[in-house]
Amino acid sequence: MTTNHPAPQPVTVIGLGQMGSALAAAFLDAGHPTTVFNRSPEKARPLVARGAVHAATVAEAVTASELVVVCVLDYPAVRALLEPVAAELRGRVLVNLTSGSPGQARAEAAWAAGHGIGYLDGGVMTTPPGIGDSAHMILYAGGPELLAAHRPALAVLGDPVDLGADAGLASLYDAGLLGLMWSVFGGWLHAVALAGADGVPATEFTGVAVRWLRTVAWFMTAYADQVDAGEYPGDDATIDVQVAAVGHLLHAGEERGIDDRLPRLHLELMREAVAAGHGGDSYARIVENFRKAPTRR
Ligand SMILES: NC(=O)c1ccc[n+]([C@@H]2O[C@H](COP(=O)([O-])OP(=O)(O)OC[C@H]3O[C@@H](n4cnc5c(N)ncnc54)[C@H](OP(=O)(O)O)[C@@H]3O)[C@@H](O)[C@H]2O)c1
Repeated sequence: MTTNHPAPQPVTVIGLGQMGSALAAAFLDAGHPTTVFNRSPEKARPLVARGAVHAATVAEAVTASELVVVCVLDYPAVRALLEPVAAELRGRVLVNLTSGSPGQARAEAAWAAGHGIGYLDGGVMTTPPGIGDSAHMILYAGGPELLAAHRPALAVLGDPVDLGADAGLASLYDAGLLGLMWSVFGGWLHAVALAGADGVPATEFTGVAVRWLRTVAWFMTAYADQVDAGEYPGDDATIDVQVAAVGHLLHAGEERGIDDRLPRLHLELMREAVAAGHGGDSYARIVENFRKAPTRR
């Protein structure tokens, strides 16, 4: 029987740590002929048991597929692995899902371009158990046309998000998004400690907190327009009002012996804006504190 669906394309995965193994497993689950390579060969065994082909050398691995995914510890490890096989990579597409800095990503893109290698830099926005689930994003930068050409294969790993032609942007977004995650974790865990002091289980508080994050996302979307416009009208809630509100949080924490470093940081940022005459503005004005940071040090 014939179908209109093309056969899944062959892929190569280099680096079989926790993340690389999850990537290779997702390709195998989706029916892609998958060749794998790892510095320590024993990590290939479970994938070979699931149908992967184990390449004995990096050269063998990269010549097995047009699409080559690399996910190792860091960019120096990527270069150490791939520099000796640059000639074999020519004309193929290298997808680098290793974490690094925007500068490293741009340097890797330039190296690839110099060797006639198609290059996509990526940021995996989940942990290995989330690979294969389209609820989670994988950020791509440096080659919109390459992403378009290989989207069916890459979509197997997670929802591909195209950040455009600048190869540094996946790393930049990744860093910013992790900062956002740690800020949310910090605020949530501080609140869990506060509520827990009155006997509220974390699970109960978290159900309400997750709903609140949807409202916070709505605030952020409106405030992003203000940041881009450089105007911060305080027509929903002013910084002056939020200074009073953070006082309630500090007071509740003090009564319960809860560490106050996080709310004090928020208060400090708000007070700076108030001292500069912006107490009547929206909270989005705080972005200016961050932009001015180098001159304060
Ligand atoms: N785990 C996550 O949740 C997660 C999420 C997003 C992004 N990432 C990123 O994904 C990348 C891999 O993370 P991971 O969790 O898979 O780490 P991991 O389990 O520690 O695996 C590291 C991998 O890098 C290889 N490696 C390290 N140094 C090498 C070198 N000098 N030459 C060749 N290979 C080398 C290791 O090979 P050996 O097996 O031979 O040691 C192994 O395959 C990192 O950049 C990480 O930041 C991870």
